[in-house]
Amino acid sequence: MLIHSASQMLTLAGGPQRGAALGTLGLVEDGAVLLHGGRIAAVGRSAELRAAFPGEEMLDAGGRVLMPGFVDAHAHPIWAGDRAAEFEQRLQGKSYLEILEAGGGILSTVRATRAAQLEQLIQQTRARLQRMFAHGSTSMEAKSGYGLDLETELRMLEALLHLDDEGPWDLALTFLGAHAIPAEFKGRADEYTRELSQTWLPELRSWWAEKAAGRPLPFVDVFCETGAFSLAQSRQILEAAKALGFPLKIHSDEFDNLGGTGMAVELGAVSADHLVSTSAAEIAALAASDTVAVALPATPFALSEAHYTPARQLLQAGGLLAVGGDLNPGTAWCESLQFSLALACRYLKLTPAEAIAATTINAAAAIQRQDQVGSIEVGKQADLLLLDVADYRQLGYRFGTNLVHTVIKKGALHVPAGYPD
Ligand code: NIG
Ligand code: FE
Repeated sequence: MLIHSASQMLTLAGGPQRGAALGTLGLVEDGAVLLHGGRIAAVGRSAELRAAFPGEEMLDAGGRVLMPGFVDAHAHPIWAGDRAAEFEQRLQGKSYLEILEAGGGILSTVRATRAAQLEQLIQQTRARLQRMFAHGSTSMEAKSGYGLDLETELRMLEALLHLDDEGPWDLALTFLGAHAIPAEFKGRADEYTRELSQTWLPELRSWWAEKAAGRPLPFVDVFCETGAFSLAQSRQILEAAKALGFPLKIHSDEFDNLGGTGMAVELGAVSADHLVSTSAAEIAALAASDTVAVALPATPFALSEAHYTPARQLLQAGGLLAVGGDLNPGTAWCESLQFSLALACRYLKLTPAEAIAATTINAAAAIQRQDQVGSIEVGKQADLLLLDVADYRQLGYRFGTNLVHTVIKKGALHVPAGYPD
């Protein structure tokens, strides 16, 4: 199939974009792309490609923007229950960490998730992935972390493997057994850390070899935060994971700075995420490394906070910045990466072009998929979006509605509800 007559085609060609290079859109006016077998076979101007491939099935983009599918580099899409009552408590003055300390927060979602059967988890998560996909996310990270016992954590991963097979999306899985200290280990965080590092991670390795043979290993992530895992505990977990060959991620500096970001850089983590209370020295260390900084502006927004990731400092120092959604039931129940992109423009001070690169090619790098997705280049997977606008700057400028007209995943067309043609 040949898609032609895009007012602007954003190729994002050339790989992940560091520092000042962020926002290199590779814009082609009156753009066209040839798809074969779910992959991109040619990229160019409409006149050129139509002349070269006259026998192809044609799809007229009708003057819309054509761009790569969004990649959501940070998501917790699988859980049971909801936390609407806590949302109300927070509005009345309770803090997120106070609620967690009192046994609510993540721990209340853990109680509901432990009680949910595999089929129930699959069904509820599928609905969330469908909403993410309809808003243009064609690949997304998906973390466990609401089980906090090995059995439930593996059930969550099993549900996610099932949903990845089912598609149409691609999921990059993450084991987040270190999301909180479960109730049965209250006051014994060191013991939980030891159990997770020494017993669960090796068991996860064998389970994966059996259940997910041939797939890349999942990421191992830690919530390094007051009330969750200390710096020493986070190090123990990440070092054990690294020794077993797992690629690493960290939640650091969401609220308090415990030093997790520097440690993640030292351990060669693929990404460090949140990064709100990160110091200038850590921003410099991060910028000098290959660890991708993943900002999640929906989280401070949803918690009504004033501070966001110091993205401009990171870019000035030459860092690799991605923007993710952080879909989760506690701090950011939002399935639209377009909304996070709009927040990134306002609070991280990114231009629409920078925010687009941060949610496509750089986000792909944050989940180690930059060779397959995140740009429109020959040989890559045909994961594309047609936006219902003619100028890419409408992304970020407009928010709260879905600007995606058509999602193309591995060459197949999907039209979200609301656009019946
Ligand atoms: O990324 N910070 C830890 N995890 C989530 C929140 C999870 C929850 O509250 O359920 C986050 O913000
Ligand atoms: Fe998170």
